[in-house]
Amino acid sequence: MRVDVVTLFPAMFLSPLQESILKRALLRGLLDVRLHHLRDYALDRHQMTDDLPYGGGQGMLLKPEPFFRAVKTILAGVPAPVILLTPQGRPLTHVRAQNLAQYSRLLLLCGHYEGVDERVRAHLVTDEISIGDYVLTGGELAALVLIDAVARFAPGVLGAESAPHDDSYAQGLLEGPQYTRPLSFRGWDVPDVLRSGNHAAIAQWRREQAVQRTAQRRPDLLGALDCGDL
Ligand code: 6GU
Repeated sequence: MRVDVVTLFPAMFLSPLQESILKRALLRGLLDVRLHHLRDYALDRHQMTDDLPYGGGQGMLLKPEPFFRAVKTILAGVPAPVILLTPQGRPLTHVRAQNLAQYSRLLLLCGHYEGVDERVRAHLVTDEISIGDYVLTGGELAALVLIDAVARFAPGVLGAESAPHDDSYAQGLLEGPQYTRPLSFRGWDVPDVLRSGNHAAIAQWRREQAVQRTAQRRPDLLGALDCGDL
C-alpha cells in the first residue's frame, strides 16, 4: 500500500516511521510512505501557502492552489481516496481503517493553523477524517495515527494474518485482561481459569470479561452491538 502525504511539516513523520512495525513494513515494501512538502507546490515567488481569512477573524488559512497542484501532480490521473485530516471530519474507527486498507493508494492532506480554504474540502478531497473530539495543532499527528491504524490491516504488516481481527474493537468490544508470567506477582494471581487448559471455559471467560470491561468503560459500544454477539 502506498500513502502519499502533503504537509508543511514532513519532518514530523520521520521518527514514527523509523521504529517497530511501521519500520519493518517500510523495509519489506509492504508500506510505501511518500512525503510531499506543500510549499513545493506553491507557485508564487514567495511560495506562500497561507493567507488571511475573508471576512476577518483569527489566524491564517491554507490557500487552495498548492493543494490542488499537489494532488494533480502526485496522483497523475490514478484514482485514489484524497483524505483531509481535520477536526471537522468523520471520526476514524476500526471499521473505517479496515475499509481504507482495501485501497492500494491513499493521499493524505494535512491542515494546519486555523484550517484550509473551503474549496479544498468542497472540490478536491473525497473524505475528511478526524481522530477524536479534541483539537490538534495540525493534521500531521492525525495522519500518522491513520497510517498506523490502516497499515495494521495491510497483508503481512502484522506477523499473523489474523492478528488485527483479534484486538479491541474487532468484535465491537474492548479487549479483556491478559496475563503473562509470573503466576503470582505481589500477591496478585493469574485467574485459575486461564491455567485450566479448558479452552471453551477460557473463551467464555474472555468474552465475559470483554463485555464487562466494555460496559464499564464504553457503554456506547454495547449499544451498537448485535445482541446475538453477546
Ligand atoms: Cl485530523 N486534525 C486536527 N488539527 N485536530 C484534530 C484532528 C485532526 N482530529 C482530532 N483533532
